[in-house]
Amino acid sequence: MKDTLSMTQIGIEKLSFYVPSQYIDLSTLAERHGIDPAKFSRGIGQDKISMPGHDEDIVTMAAEAARPIIEEVGDEAIDTILLATETGIDQSKAAGVYVHSLLGMKPQCRIVEMKHACYAATAGIQMAAGHVARKPWIKVLVIATDVSRYDLDSSAEATQGCGAVAILVSAEPKLMELDTVSGCYTEDIMDFWRPNYRKTPLVDGKYSALKYLNGVAKAWEDYQANGGREFTSFSKFCYHLPFTRMGVKAHRHLCGINETQAQESHFSDGMIYNRQVGNCYTASLYLSLVSTLENAEEDLTGKPVGLFSYGSGAVAEFFSGVVQSGYRDHLHKARHQKMLNERDGLSYDDYLGMWHTPDPQDGSSVKMNNSTRGHYRLAEINDHKRIYERI
Ligand code: CAA
Repeated sequence: MKDTLSMTQIGIEKLSFYVPSQYIDLSTLAERHGIDPAKFSRGIGQDKISMPGHDEDIVTMAAEAARPIIEEVGDEAIDTILLATETGIDQSKAAGVYVHSLLGMKPQCRIVEMKHACYAATAGIQMAAGHVARKPWIKVLVIATDVSRYDLDSSAEATQGCGAVAILVSAEPKLMELDTVSGCYTEDIMDFWRPNYRKTPLVDGKYSALKYLNGVAKAWEDYQANGGREFTSFSKFCYHLPFTRMGVKAHRHLCGINETQAQESHFSDGMIYNRQVGNCYTASLYLSLVSTLENAEEDLTGKPVGLFSYGSGAVAEFFSGVVQSGYRDHLHKARHQKMLNERDGLSYDDYLGMWHTPDPQDGSSVKMNNSTRGHYRLAEINDHKRIYERI
């Protein structure tokens, strides 16, 4: 590999995710729409859609995801928060400022919000790694947080979801050292987009899936041209997972290009959590990484992992990292699995109620019902201001 002999090891020190406490089972949606449930469980590879309560949004989910990391490492070394989302709540104020406040972090911290569809968190991680290379004594908190919501009764409805993943990037990569080499591909296309005046995106579903596959091939080609690892050297692959079948198709596509037989064990651990959560856009790839690290039975120490990030519009990136010795001691597996297992299933009518989040477009005020089981909530929107509170 070219250019990996950096003096400083840089990568992911901590990973923590949050999903709200309610979901709709896709069999409930299938029954309602008169669709064979196997279309969802096998055809798109999803079981559940996680739904935010009315008092939850990208801010509260981000704060919940980051809270265990701040409790463990404190905020002294964190000089930057990069919050990645495509579910923006304001055109000007960065959502990360609310998160910083809810977490009670020190004021000496820069915050910025990043957007490029499902790709932004990856840009955040690459920028964080560059920043840490310049100042190895600091840490950067990258938080990916999104709500994937499509029109009711559309073919994309089954691929909704939500969640947040907090990723601590530092020169103490206790989970994964990131390789400096990566491969990128950008193309100006209209496969999925959401104009400012719409709550739900416009999507050309089949076209988006084709462009995703094209993106994986092109990003891989660039990764190779830049001196990346050989395909057969990877022990695991994590993909952006709008639905898990997309990742299976992407993996087969890469295997075809590399004239290799696809092995399920290379990607299946990384799909366990995503099947239960649904698409969480820019957080989805990192949920897959958490799922891989927490569900792989074999010891991944020293093993290279390939990561593919795709943001519609479109930017694709293939990059890689090496799992670090002792990584299991730094995971939050028990907490994550408890959170996933203790959620409540929604009836179809309750799901509709959750889907229609109060979102006054005319500037009127609204108080939110209590529904989160978390530590933070959006209490009200008043005088055009979002008012968050700690519980
Ligand atoms: N049993 C088993 N499988 C079944 C089945 C049954 N009874 N009925 C259908 N299937 C299979 C189909 O054969 C198909 O499989 P293949 O893809 O292997 O052919 C699969 O289930 C899906 O069926 P359809 O193609 O008929 O599904 P659809 O057209 O209703 O919807 C979709 C699929 C277009 C992807 C839609 O969910 C969508 O638009 N999703 C949003 C867009 C998206 O996620 N794009 C992904 C790439 S873009 C991206 O990654 C960014 C992002 O996050 C949005």
